[in-house]
Amino acid sequence: MGAPHVLPRRVLLGITGGIAAYKAPMLVRALHKAGAQVQVVMTRAAHDFVSPLVLSTLSGRPALTELVDPAQGSPVWNDHVHLARWADLLVIAPATANTLAKMAHGLCDDLLMACWLSAECPVFVAPAMDLEMYRNAATRHNLAVLQGRGVRTIGPEEGELASGLVGEGRMTEPDDIVAQLAAALTDASPWHGRRVLITAGPTHEAMDPVRFIGNRSSGKMGFALAEEAAARGARVELIAGPVGLHAKNPSINRTDVVSAAEMAACAKEKFPACDLAIMSAAVADWRPAAVAGEKMKKSGRPPVLALEPTEDILAWMGANKQGKQVLVGFALETTDALRNAQGKLDRKNLDLIVLNSLRDQGAGFGHDTNKVTLIDRDKKGEELPLMSKADVARAILDRIEQLLPHAE
Ligand code: CTP
Repeated sequence: MGAPHVLPRRVLLGITGGIAAYKAPMLVRALHKAGAQVQVVMTRAAHDFVSPLVLSTLSGRPALTELVDPAQGSPVWNDHVHLARWADLLVIAPATANTLAKMAHGLCDDLLMACWLSAECPVFVAPAMDLEMYRNAATRHNLAVLQGRGVRTIGPEEGELASGLVGEGRMTEPDDIVAQLAAALTDASPWHGRRVLITAGPTHEAMDPVRFIGNRSSGKMGFALAEEAAARGARVELIAGPVGLHAKNPSINRTDVVSAAEMAACAKEKFPACDLAIMSAAVADWRPAAVAGEKMKKSGRPPVLALEPTEDILAWMGANKQGKQVLVGFALETTDALRNAQGKLDRKNLDLIVLNSLRDQGAGFGHDTNKVTLIDRDKKGEELPLMSKADVARAILDRIEQLLPHAE
């Protein structure tokens, strides 16, 4: 097997009533392993083949079946529109002949069909049925109709079927379904193959061999951006200051640095080969002008530290960017935020600036959430709500996607 697939997306997994549903728990696990959040929506018929309890336990969310659940005397509406909007991806596996027929004809007699009719995200089906059913003209027609409407199919494979017959109709194995989803999503992505440079975390500026000047940046925002860009198919160069974080996607090429000077040297080397740079690192603006060779002793008077400016890496990139390179900076402002960020966008020749909030609860350094405003060259600010850093990364990349030059 090659590198593990990474699919950090919200997957709505539809499970319908065929014998291949016994593999659904393995599919939930494979999707999880690839980084996806999974919400199961299963048909009533699927209950005969696989236990909702197993699926709820493995997915970490209740496996849903009914549009209205009679939960302990007080019915709960499982909102199909919300579920469909939540999903980045709808995967129906196994998809029976009956389900394909209902999908092709727009029938809406259960929660799964209501979700499918509401879904605007990519939809994949993994058909599974017996040989003759799969060959039947009606099934072929239904599949052709669905493919014509943009539904993508995975499998079925040839092999031994539950009936004992051998032929086409077996559901693709769960690991292969995940591999095909990952490949299809990244190949189609405008990020596919783009080289993206991302900086993350603080820098530490040495005073002596044991002490440094630093800042409170955790690197979480930069790492979330790196994961999201890699998941979209980009080739990510991540330059990380001193942080306690791991990059999950094996395709992220990480270089660790400590000081602003090291970050500058690394970024300058990598930038010319990149299509896009996102500078989310909190680079120190000053460093001690002299670094003591030995640990400074506390005897005597406290030392007075003389500081000197570090190089502004982002400004260097802005001055040196070529052709269609896209440059995104971050700004952390405490006064006159919008105007200062707009000024920075101009001064540093940026295409987009992400204005970080420090004032809102749950935003800024160290938190798992953030609240930002995106400002482009039109200078219009789009203020986003408080969201998880993963969601902020998605929103930032959605906006950057509009700035990417079309592939030649
Ligand atoms: N940055 C950089 N190199 C530096 C300092 C900052 O590349 N030496 C980048 C950061 O990664 C960020 C952006 O510049 O993308 C904004 O940094 P910030 O410190 O907020 O702004 P400054 O331009 O330093 O201005 P000021 O401190 O006056 O607000």
